[in-house]
Amino acid sequence: MKPLVFQPDALPPALPGKKRYGVLGSPIAHSLSPAMQEAGFAALGIPAEYLRVEIPPGGLAEALPRLLAAGFQGWNCTLPHKEAMFGLCPETDATARASATVNTVVVLPSGRRGHSTDGDGWEDHIAEAWQLELARQRVLLLGCGGVGRTLAFHLTRRGCRHLRLANRTSSKATQLAEKLTSKQCPVVAVPWDPLEISRALQASDLLIQATPLGLATGDPLPVSATELHPGLRIYDTVYHRDFTPLIRAARARHLPALDGLGMLLHQGARALTLWTERPAPLAEMRTALAQAAGRSI
Ligand SMILES: NC(=O)c1ccc[n+]([C@@H]2O[C@H](COP(=O)([O-])OP(=O)(O)OC[C@H]3O[C@@H](n4cnc5c(N)ncnc54)[C@H](OP(=O)(O)O)[C@@H]3O)[C@@H](O)[C@H]2O)c1
Repeated sequence: MKPLVFQPDALPPALPGKKRYGVLGSPIAHSLSPAMQEAGFAALGIPAEYLRVEIPPGGLAEALPRLLAAGFQGWNCTLPHKEAMFGLCPETDATARASATVNTVVVLPSGRRGHSTDGDGWEDHIAEAWQLELARQRVLLLGCGGVGRTLAFHLTRRGCRHLRLANRTSSKATQLAEKLTSKQCPVVAVPWDPLEISRALQASDLLIQATPLGLATGDPLPVSATELHPGLRIYDTVYHRDFTPLIRAARARHLPALDGLGMLLHQGARALTLWTERPAPLAEMRTALAQAAGRSI
């Protein structure tokens, strides 16, 4: 069945007694968040709906009054709106200000408050799966787009041992490294070149993949499989039903490897807590998300 997607100017009237939340993005039809969030609200006994809303790039400011008029009490936002949403929130918390991005909005009588739950959601996932101490990790992060930047800010805020950044457009990695580097967590840019990335990988304990590579069939591996050395952990922010080629290559070498479905779960659980001010029913959200994704988390 084709997923239901709404346009901001064609939203149905809110139902009396039912709270309204949603996810804004473009494209948005593929989003697994409605199944996960509606299961979360149901487990808390809160009548609520969670809609997919398609908003084209640049269309956020015009869409906001329509969302408010249609009774939304909060929303998530994803590609390509996280940075624009930051600029449209009169109030933001420290996590949003650190990366200048917002993925969760709480509508208040006084306005809107923006949060970023992606970094903490990612850390919840690795803590749950690996019990990893970030302070000991030398990290190589591939991709300095929205997710890569958020994770880079999170890693430096939480203090990993060393952070190397590589991005296809190398100037972005250089600028971000200059902005983030500190005595507590040295950050350096690595040129987007197979030899340089291979060297950086050999000096890393954790590889984080934050480009879209692996999403489309036939995408090349972001690093050669033979470079995945014993002692390396691999986190691929991209997820799909059959796992990405990077995750499959890592697991074939018996290396610990996780994909971003767990990050999606945990950032969503944190968003639900912000809206309801109650602990998120993680087990129910996990089951619903796994069912929607067609595999376990
Ligand atoms: N697990 C989760 O909860 C979660 C949440 C959001 C996104 N994601 C995943 O993260 C991926 C990135 O999302 P985003 O929001 O960061 O996207 P984005 O802002 O568009 O950034 C994409 C980044 O990937 C690089 N890139 C794009 N195509 C590439 C290619 N063919 N080869 C090498 N590098 C390439 C870009 O480099 P340039 O700067 O050179 O363009 C940029 O750094 C998405 O595809 C999605 O699957 C996961």
